[in-house]
Amino acid sequence: MRSVIAFAVVLVLALTAAPALLRADDAAPDAAKVEKGTQVYAAQKCSMCHAIAGKGNSKNPLDDVGSKLSIDQIKSYVTNPKGAKADSKMKAYPTLAAEDLDALATYLSTLKKQ
Ligand code: HEC
Repeated sequence: MRSVIAFAVVLVLALTAAPALLRADDAAPDAAKVEKGTQVYAAQKCSMCHAIAGKGNSKNPLDDVGSKLSIDQIKSYVTNPKGAKADSKMKAYPTLAAEDLDALATYLSTLKKQ
């Protein structure tokens, strides 16, 4: 009986650790995806309202957004800003292709002030 419990404990630990290992991707996003994200950012003209590294509209800098929001939070912000902030002034981008949105959010998540 005791060994059954021990086995169950090991199984639960293994199952809870697995997603953390799969998420290792977020820690080091691949360079191609980040590069694509910079292109989506430019193509969507986010810099009309946002600045990154001093370029663009300095009212809303995104230089530290990666410390503040996760990739998933950035994705929901971009597709539905009012869902994240009820009085948001931001334009919504509900029709971005999933791949573009993913690259864009991955890129923004790398922006962190030291
Ligand atoms: C019309 C102006 C406008 C455009 C265009 C715009 N934004 Fe925004 N965005 C804002 C404003 C203003 C805020 C600050 C809070 C709010 O009103 O939602 C914001 C907030 C954000 C945030 C949350 C920042 C934080 O610190 O919480 C993210 C992420 C973001 N924008 C990404 C983007 C991306 C990516 C694009 C291009 C696809 C974009 N925005 C285009 C105006 C804009």
